[in-house]
This record gives sequence, structure tokens and C-alpha cells, in this order.
Amino acid sequence: MGAINKLSKQESIRLFHDHVSRGKADMFTSYGMDFIFGRREGIYVWDIDGQKQLINCHSNGGVFNLGHRNPEIIKTLAAAMEKLDIGNHHLISEQRAVLAEKLAQLMPGDIKYTVFGVSGGEAIDAAIKIARAYTKRSGIISAQGGYHGHTGFALAAGDEKYRKPFGPMPPGFSQVTFNDIPALERAMNNQTAAVLFETVPATLGISVPDRAFFKQVRELCDSKGILLIIDEVQTGLGRTGKLWGIGHFDVVPDIIVIGKGLSGGMYPMTATCFNEKLETVFKDDPFIHVSTFGGAEVGCPVALKVLDMSSDPAFLKHVQTVALLFEQGFSRLKSKYPKLIVSIRQLGLMMGVKMANEMCGPVMTKSCYDNGILSIYANNDTSVSQIMPPLVISEQETGEVLSRLDKAFEQANTLLDL
Ligand SMILES: Cc1ncc(COP(=O)(O)O)c(C=O)c1O
Repeated sequence: MGAINKLSKQESIRLFHDHVSRGKADMFTSYGMDFIFGRREGIYVWDIDGQKQLINCHSNGGVFNLGHRNPEIIKTLAAAMEKLDIGNHHLISEQRAVLAEKLAQLMPGDIKYTVFGVSGGEAIDAAIKIARAYTKRSGIISAQGGYHGHTGFALAAGDEKYRKPFGPMPPGFSQVTFNDIPALERAMNNQTAAVLFETVPATLGISVPDRAFFKQVRELCDSKGILLIIDEVQTGLGRTGKLWGIGHFDVVPDIIVIGKGLSGGMYPMTATCFNEKLETVFKDDPFIHVSTFGGAEVGCPVALKVLDMSSDPAFLKHVQTVALLFEQGFSRLKSKYPKLIVSIRQLGLMMGVKMANEMCGPVMTKSCYDNGILSIYANNDTSVSQIMPPLVISEQETGEVLSRLDKAFEQANTLLDL
């Protein structure tokens, strides 16, 4: 592993500052968080100089659901590299066909077609394109404070602060308060093509909706000929204790978008999955949407392996067991820090700690870091810390996370002087 990192930490920071991002280099250095991923394994990452170890409770929003450098994923990718490469995105592909068939088997209801992509934003863009082309309407309603990526249509569906510097956005996009059915109904009109929601909006602060919410959304959409797009980029692949987060709500969307974890943390792969009627969009011109690297053949066996592992009932049971341990642990911590912790938001291992005010998230991120946890606060509600460990975390490691979090809360509590 040592051979991977050739530069000293200081040299890496300097190069990053000079050629990648001055803003990030300056910010992380000034916060005392100049951590550079070096060795990585399972739930752990070590600083490039080997001085500091963190438990990854960010998991890049789910990229590392199966942990860092999962041996099964490495084996699968290594075998694929012996025989395959990117392939040709215009031609028929065995690898993509097999992966798409697997997705069809695992998707709810009648969802059976897939357009592959490289990034989540690209996959959301594809979903919006399909919805607009199918309905011949342009309106897209999404959640205020939601996040779907930084690409074209995905950006237009996201929060204003990410759009503002970039000038006019495509028309037709509007946002409503999440989990608010009357507001959604008011926003719908005869030009609405689709409603686009994350199952549990992470950037909004892990906002778990009411149990009846998505059923009501589905009914409203059906009554007005509007499509329902569900963004499962973070909630998919077992994060919530079910294979798909939307499975908790007993609803079949028209389009489901997945990403992040589908990569196995090793090879980028995203998918826009939809039902047969929507496939007619590509009937006249099947090349109307293409992606050179989307569904790259060498990555398909990796995604297939991820799907096999993530859909295993024993794996999902494990997620539920560990989630219960976290629930119990957080309940103890809430009693211990009653002024700091307002509530715990949790669906499986998608967890958020809602705290007293908007300063708490940033302070907690640093306190977590100081106590050996990588965790970020929710960008669109900075009073919430996101806690998203790899799903392969053991029961013993869960105890370790909770004890490090205890120390972090203690530090934050003192610093914030609540
Ligand atoms: C819910 C959700 N959707 C879409 C995206 C965009 O994914 P990507 O960064 O791969 O474009 C993200 C990324 O964080 C996300 O959290």
C-alpha cells in the first residue's frame, strides 16, 4: 500500500492547492482536517502519513456500503479486467444486458428497462429527459433542500444555492416543501411531467417522511397523469434495511435512479430504471440518449456482484440488526446530551442527528473528526449530522462508533456551551 502514496502529506496538500482546489485545501487545513485518504480497509481509513485513523461514517453517501476495498469486489473487478474493457456504447452488449436483467428482477413492480450512466446526476438527467419526452410536458417538481446532483437537469431540480452562480436554468422546475401533500398538490398543473423526490432526502437532513406520504404522492400523480421519479442514489442497495428505501412505503414509482453503492466503491456505475411504457421514448431513435462510459462493460460484473451481495436476505437482516443497535445507542446518547440532541432521524443505517441549532453540524463534524469519525453535516440543514457507516459494519464496530460519537458529542457540547 505504501507504494501508492509517493508524496509527503505537505507536498500532496501543496499540489492539490495549486492544481485542484485552493478553496478546499485552505479550508480543510484551517479547520485542522487536512486528512488525505491513504490506506483504507473495511470501515476504516488512515491518513496518508499513517498518523490518524477514521471510521468512515460518511461512506460518500453510500459508495462504501460494502466497505473500503471489499475483497469480493476486488476479485470481481480483477477478473473482469482480464477479459473486458469499456465496450462500445452504441452496440448490443452482453454485459449490460445481463446487468439490466438483474436490475429488472430486483426492481419493484413493472420496472424492467435500464439506461446506464456514470454519475448520479447524469442518471437523474436521463430520468427527467424520459419523463419529459414521454409526457410531452416540461414541469418537474422536486423538494426544497433536496439534492440530485450538479449536472444540467439535476442541478435545476436542486437547491437554489447551487444554481445561483450559473445563470438561467431550464424552465419548468419548481420546488415544494418535502412531506407536504397540500403543497405538492398546489404545485401540480397540466404541464407537470414528473415529481422527483429522494426517498429520504439526505442533504435536507435525513428527513424521513410520514409513512403515508409516498402513497399519497403516487395517488396524486396517477390522478393527473404525472410520473413519479424516485432518487435512490443514497437510499438504495440496502442502506435502509430493505434493498430499496421506497420498499418501506409500499409504492411503485415509474422511474428509480440508483448510483453510488452500485460502484462497489471501485468502478463508477449508475442506473436509471423504468417501466416498459416509458421505453417507447427511445423507439423512434434509440440513440437519443447515449453515454460513452455509462454501463462500461468492465464495471458490469462489479455492479452485478454488488446487487447479489446487497439483495442477500442475510445481508439485509444484518443491516436491520446493526440499525437497532444504533437506535438503542442513540437513545442513550440523547438522554446524556439533552440540550444538544433534539431528535434522531433513522431509517435503517440512514441516520441523522438533529441538533439544537445550525452551528451544531459543523462543530460536530470537527468533533467527530477529532474523535476518529468521518461524518459530515447536512448541507441544506446544518443542524443535522449525517451518520452513514458502511453497511458491512460489525456489531463490535458499531459499539466502537457509538463510543467515539459519545466523545464527539461531549466535545461539541462543551464547545457550543448550550
Ligand atoms: C440523492 C442523490 N442523488 C444524486 C446525486 C448525484 O450523484 P453524483 O454525485 O454521482 O452525480 C447524489 C450525490 O450525492 C445524491 O446524494
